Amino acid sequence: MPARPTRRLLALAAAACLAAWSGQAAAEEVNLYSSRHYDSDRALYEEFTRETGIRIRLIEGDADQLIERIRNEGANSPADVFITVDAARLARAASAGILAPLRSPVIEQRVPAGLRDRDGQWFAVSTRARVIMYDKERGVAEGLVRYEDLADPRFRGQICARASSHPYNTSLGASVLAANGPERTEEWAKGFAANLARPPQGGDRDQFRAIPAGQCGLAIANTYYLAAIGASERAEDKALFARIGVIFPNQAAGDRGAHVNISGAGLVKTAPNRAAAVRFLEYLTSGPAQERFALGNMEYPAVADAPLHPALRAMGSFRPEPVDAERTNVNATQALQIMQRAGWR
Ligand SMILES: [Fe+2]
Repeated sequence: MPARPTRRLLALAAAACLAAWSGQAAAEEVNLYSSRHYDSDRALYEEFTRETGIRIRLIEGDADQLIERIRNEGANSPADVFITVDAARLARAASAGILAPLRSPVIEQRVPAGLRDRDGQWFAVSTRARVIMYDKERGVAEGLVRYEDLADPRFRGQICARASSHPYNTSLGASVLAANGPERTEEWAKGFAANLARPPQGGDRDQFRAIPAGQCGLAIANTYYLAAIGASERAEDKALFARIGVIFPNQAAGDRGAHVNISGAGLVKTAPNRAAAVRFLEYLTSGPAQERFALGNMEYPAVADAPLHPALRAMGSFRPEPVDAERTNVNATQALQIMQRAGWR
């Protein structure tokens, strides 16, 4: 029946004419490759579309796989913007040559220099601190003020942490390695592994949830996971949040500060929708977008004038270790080898 396809073609042609006539030809879009997995991000993309008419086509995946995919797609890649969590992976994306140096007065004015790549290949949209959590009912252990103290034999059998191969812990290990060198990091990792309460399992939330259950005295987790519990209206979450104390490590004068990791974004070198992509990247630093990261996902906003979630503010203020994405990336492999060799699997 040849009439059918013909009729469909005619209908398509008519629709195209109508769209062109009404000024709505081919809607602009941005192809976003992201390894972030938060509902608040989707809400942010929808807000951007409502404001600009530019559609966000989201391709989610593991950061290293997305980098590989963009490399393989080469000049034909539909990717416009790359977003990921973890400084080391941002540095890997830059060194893989998939990102374009971008000079944007908006981004440079909004995001502090310490949270941007020197060459403009990426910038941070938010940060989170990796902290030590403890049971307020048992009280804080005296002298537990640095990541280094977690290797002390008096914490034998007390620490709960997820696998060392998770980027959050690998980057923490890379930070310890950068500060202390391989020999002392090896000693630290051995002491830390000996202090584990159980073989690493689960995600960050599972570590501090095990504190009131009596399985661990101390947990390593990112701030935003606990703040999400603090933001919950459920009675059991409120009780959990009230019970967990937070230590921001390495705060003494002259010490390096608490380890923070970043989420960041960059323009893909081959971006087919470059202008729309730059508009989206700049939007990520805007008040409404920064508020999403801060109030929707309980992260520290990258932009100074954005608000903090009250649950995050309740944890107290701290001094972060300066972010050095390239150094984190360079140290990550060796740090992971050291941690695994020490028994922190
Ligand atoms: Fe996470």
